[in-house]
Parts: sequence; structure tokens; C-alpha cells
Amino acid sequence: MDNTDINQQPIKSAEEIAEDKKIEIALRPKKLTDFVGQNKIKNNLEIFLQAAKNRQEPIDHVLFYGPPGLGKTTLSHIIAEEMQANLKVTTGPAIEKSGDLAAILTNMQPGDILFIDEIHRLNKTVEEILYPAMEDFVLDIVIGKGPSARTVRLELPHFTIIGATTKLSKLSAPLRDRFGNVYRLDFYQDDEIDQIVKRSAQILNVNFVDQCSFEIAVRARKTPRIANRLLKRVRDFAEVKNGGIINTDIVNSALNLLEIDQLGLDEIDRKILLTIIEKFNGGPVGLNTLSASTSEEMDTIEDVIEPFLLQLGFINRTPRGRVVTCGAYKHLNLDLPNHLSL
Ligand SMILES: Nc1ncnc2c1ncn2[C@@H]1O[C@H](COP(=O)(O)OP(=O)(O)OP(=O)(O)O)[C@@H](O)[C@H]1O
Ligand SMILES: [Mg+2]
Repeated sequence: MDNTDINQQPIKSAEEIAEDKKIEIALRPKKLTDFVGQNKIKNNLEIFLQAAKNRQEPIDHVLFYGPPGLGKTTLSHIIAEEMQANLKVTTGPAIEKSGDLAAILTNMQPGDILFIDEIHRLNKTVEEILYPAMEDFVLDIVIGKGPSARTVRLELPHFTIIGATTKLSKLSAPLRDRFGNVYRLDFYQDDEIDQIVKRSAQILNVNFVDQCSFEIAVRARKTPRIANRLLKRVRDFAEVKNGGIINTDIVNSALNLLEIDQLGLDEIDRKILLTIIEKFNGGPVGLNTLSASTSEEMDTIEDVIEPFLLQLGFINRTPRGRVVTCGAYKHLNLDLPNHLSL
């Protein structure tokens, strides 16, 4: 194993990297009972899946939203597995034309599930085809052009759409309203992430010497995907430096090398906080300006970096922009500015 690989990919990137993808699939829980945390959602899903099974009907459409890596795709696969339904997977941007969606929908069998990831990126014309399809299971197709154009209505089998998005606010209201079940995934508790790290370690055949799974858990941004990535990096590090044995020292050295601090913040989080503090006197600063001065994309800041900083209470969103809080100054060992130290 080449240890230069260890530091290469950003630990919290929302992109799936080929190597990661293999691991993610292996670690992805297949049953609701293996899915750790999100108890409210699990309890709801259990009842709603059981009711649909008893009635031998397809389930109502489901929408999952929340920050990346919390389990939206995983839950969608679990639903299909629990319902023993066929799952077709696509993404909002992949369905370019209404004809693409029509082709997918006319090939559905009764009870099939269509998972649309990044559903907020569906274009408007495609969305309009989706409304009657979701509501009445019909497809309105326009045949011909100009004055001779006519609409033909096709009946569709009863199927289910599961949508996932990190940006609920970007979803149009009519589309959102067509989902019978809307679930928001929250950040996990540290002990839940610890359970996930332990479960993944078992699957990957990784052994911890002492209770160091928790050391990884508390630095995983309350996010299962990151916990799994950290575990993998720590495993690599242990293989190179310590004959594969993982103890507290190894965890700390590996995470220090990755520049991940005690709370799970990395270089990019610190850059964002320090930019607001040093260049904008703690804020408020607009997302646009912040993006320009840090060279991080707005989407990355908004979807990947900010949710966790908000969760920690290190930044606040105000109508005039983002502001850094006292907690962030303290965490970064900086003196409070006058306007916060009163
Ligand atoms: N509750 C959980 N228990 C155990 N593992 C989990 C849980 N939630 C997620 N994971 C793990 O984290 C990985 C990432 O989850 P998933 O791909 O479902 O996230 P997502 O919400 O779809 O993210 P994105 O918004 O980036 O698509 C999964 O491969 C799975 O191994
Ligand atoms: Mg996903």
C-alpha cells in the first residue's frame, strides 16, 4: 500500500470515488434492522412498509432530504429490499428530456420503484410529465406538432417514486407535494456513529486494540459516510505504520495527518471560518463573496461544509450573510473580537 494515497481525496467530498464506491456498497446496510439511528424515520417506515405489504399494494411516493452521506440512498435501497420490489436507479440530471422519463415510466412493472437521486435537478418539462404520473399513474404524450398536435393519455402501472435531495428548497412546491412521505435525515449521535464504525470494522475485518472506534466516531462529522472513510484511512495508516494494528495512538496519528481536529473539522472548514474571521471581521458575509474569497464552490460550501458548522453552532445564517459565533473563535483558539466579548 502506497501511503501517499492516504491524503489525496477530501474526506468529506460528496462525490463518490470508484474505490470508495466498492467499499460503500459492501458497508451499506441491506435491512432496516441493520440501519443504525434515524429512529423516527425507521419507526415510520416500518409501519408504512408493513401496511403496504398487508394490503399488497405498492407504497406511496417517498422523499428523503438532508446533507450528503447520511443514508438517503441506503434507505431507498432498503425500502426496495423490504418490499421485494425492483429498483430502478436514475438521477435528476440524467433525465434530460420528457421522452427519457416517458421511456422509463412505460417500462415500469406494477410495484416497481424508481429512485431519482438529486431530484431537485430535474428540468421543468420533465417535472410536468411526472406530476400526472405520480398522482394518477397516467402519462400524457403529445403526438405531432402545431395545430394537428394531440395528446394521448397512457395508463401506467402503480409504481413508486423515491426521490432524494440535499436541497429541499430547490424542489418545486408541486413536486414536493406529490410525495406522500417526506423524511428529513438528521446528523447522527456520536454513539450511533460508533456503532456504525464497529459494524463496518467487522465487515472489513479490522480489529481495534482498545476502544478507539469512538475516537474515529467523534471526528466523523456525525456522518456515516465520513465515518467509513475515516475507518478506511486509519486502516491504511495502520497497515503501513503499525502492522495493521489499530490503537488510540494510530487513530490519532492518522487523523492528525489528515488534519482532522478533535471535532472533525478539516482544513477546508478552518479555511472557511478563518476567512470569515480574518477577511470579514467575523461576518456577515454573503455566500457568493465567501465562495469567491475561498475558491470553494458555492454548492460545496452550502451543501457539504456549512450544515456541519451550523450543527456545531460555529456559524449562523442571518439575512445579511454568514456570521461566525463565539464557539468557533474558542475552538480555533482566537481572541474574541470586541463585538462578541461584551
Ligand atoms: N444509518 C446507517 N447505518 C449504517 N451505515 C450507514 C447508515 N447511513 C449511511 N450509512 C453508510 O454511509 C454510506 C453513505 O450513505 P448514503 O449513500 O445512503 O448517503 P446519501 O444520504 O445518499 O448521500 P448523498 O447525498 O451524497 O447521496 C453508505 O454506503 C452506508 O454504508
Ligand atoms: Mg445518495
